[in-house]
Amino acid sequence: MNLENLRREYLQKGLSRSDLLADPMEQFKFWMQQAMDSGLIDPTAMSIATVDASGQPSQRTVLLKDLHQNSFIFYTNLQSKKAQDIRQNNKVSLLFAWLPLERQIKIQGTASFLGKAESLKYFSSRPKESQLAAWASSQSKPVSSRQFLEMQFARMKEKYSQGKIPIPDFWGGIKIIPQQFEFWQGRGHRLHDRFRFSPVQPAPENVEQKPFPKTWQIERLAP
Ligand SMILES: Cc1cc2nc3c(=O)[nH]c(=O)nc-3n(C[C@H](O)[C@H](O)[C@H](O)COP(=O)(O)O)c2cc1C
Repeated sequence: MNLENLRREYLQKGLSRSDLLADPMEQFKFWMQQAMDSGLIDPTAMSIATVDASGQPSQRTVLLKDLHQNSFIFYTNLQSKKAQDIRQNNKVSLLFAWLPLERQIKIQGTASFLGKAESLKYFSSRPKESQLAAWASSQSKPVSSRQFLEMQFARMKEKYSQGKIPIPDFWGGIKIIPQQFEFWQGRGHRLHDRFRFSPVQPAPENVEQKPFPKTWQIERLAP
């Protein structure tokens, strides 16, 4: 397989300092709206990197579901590998890779778990099949066969055939409060545009859940 010659130039757009909004969350929303308007598939898909107790990072794709109060929210199984990692180390990194737009956004921040009421609100809005799948899947654990998984789903369907499906106590939302953003726009000859937003006054390292910074400084980074 020859991968060496697979390359393209990134020529769609440039990004200059004067294009950027002062608040990185507003800048994120502006780009997200453009990604949605462009017809991009799964614009809310983001990669979240976590680190386990031994220092080993791992990543997976999840779907961004809300941007409530300057945080990034997604939903998952609370006994999953990612949730276990976050309990050990709440520092995470998110990546939106919008390659057809020649853009990526990297966000570093700290994660925490949403309250039951907030998680329930979203769980109730999901299609019934997704609710049942949450009950049927012990996410991240080995499973003997596809057949077993489908059997579990059928059992849950039977169990909750009447009335509302309750939220499993092992399922809920995780919110990430950003502490740093980087907006990347591809340019010709690999001279890409990169801008990093970081807090003017970073929160102390020993603060468990750092608040959303009030003021941000913006720096251009070499590509
Ligand atoms: C497009 C896409 C969207 C996904 N969305 C979610 C999601 O919102 N929540 C989730 O728990 N897993 C989602 N997954 C599955 C995760 O990538 C992952 O396989 C799962 O969460 C288990 O990860 P873990 O074992 O590292 O905890 C998605 C996968 C893809 C490819």
